[in-house]
Amino acid sequence: MKKQDKIANPYKIIKAKVAQVSDETPSIKTFSLELEEELGFSTGQFIQLTVPGIGEAPFTPSSKSGVSKKMDVTVMNVGVATGELHKKKKGALLAVRGPYGNGFPVEKLRDRELIIVGGGCGIAPLRSLIHEILSDRTRYPKVTLLYGCRSPQDIIYKESYDNWQQQFELHRTVDKAHSGWDENEGVVTDLFERIDVDTKTCAAVVVGPPVMMKFSVKGLEEMGISGDRIYVSLEKNMTCGFGKCRHCMVGPYYVCKDGPVFEYSRVKGVPGVWD
Ligand SMILES: Cc1cc2nc3c(=O)[nH]c(=O)nc-3n(C[C@H](O)[C@H](O)[C@H](O)COP(=O)(O)OP(=O)(O)OC[C@H]3O[C@@H](n4cnc5c(N)ncnc54)[C@H](O)[C@@H]3O)c2cc1C
Ligand code: FES
Repeated sequence: MKKQDKIANPYKIIKAKVAQVSDETPSIKTFSLELEEELGFSTGQFIQLTVPGIGEAPFTPSSKSGVSKKMDVTVMNVGVATGELHKKKKGALLAVRGPYGNGFPVEKLRDRELIIVGGGCGIAPLRSLIHEILSDRTRYPKVTLLYGCRSPQDIIYKESYDNWQQQFELHRTVDKAHSGWDENEGVVTDLFERIDVDTKTCAAVVVGPPVMMKFSVKGLEEMGISGDRIYVSLEKNMTCGFGKCRHCMVGPYYVCKDGPVFEYSRVKGVPGVWD
């Protein structure tokens, strides 16, 4: 596996062609890429994606980890690079470099009850983790997947939940429901009362907007899950992606290099962690 610390040349760019574009919601698309050469990544690591003539931005692949010429990235349109990316159609040329960062600590998640909490587009990196779990299902005795987003229209990977529901205990919630929605209405932490695992031994992974992660880790700790068994994936402004520019620093950490996945106990109370 080509992890960040094993990349011979972290600046190396690989050409990538858009093979398919899937509209997830009005503001989120999944781009299936075909790379000119193989690239290996671990689940939760990120890549820098170049939109030629515009710039680049970090994304965590939402597809299964491993060495491959194929990769999916799920992108929310929030600004310049993501806006231009959203205009790209099948056949468009992009480029990737990486992978960077540490990824989810899969070896610490196996053989435990696992709670996965996703918010909004944060389910994108978690989809890669879910692929990982499904490929090694017997090592995960019980998986509880909680997903929250703003409204039913904002749910991404709509085609996946039937399968995930068969494999995991799945609960979804939306901030604001409309008629026809018969699942929960409220924030994702409202779903915590449905968690039925041994909180003294389980692990939890939380990915989503900062405010959602902040309240989720608080709720999980209150349930008795210690911060060294809670993992968060932080999003900070990044330029280089591998520890040169310092743009991503939070407290003593380079989020690009020491993260983006952190054991919560390491970043708890660090100023700016949820900014
Ligand atoms: C490790 C990592 C993984 C990520 N994975 C995904 C993913 O899978 N899917 C996805 O949609 N997004 C992901 N992001 C966020 C994505 O990188 C930003 O949305 C993107 O950089 C915005 O670029 P832009 O040029 O479109 O926006 P800009 O025009 O640069 O800015 C738009 C707004 O977003 C803010 N912003 C820019 N970059 C970031 C950032 N990195 N974090 C927080 N705010 C930012 C700016 O301050 C501004 O308010 C990830 C970020 C990181 C650090
Ligand atoms: S993005 Fe440059 S040091 Fe982290």
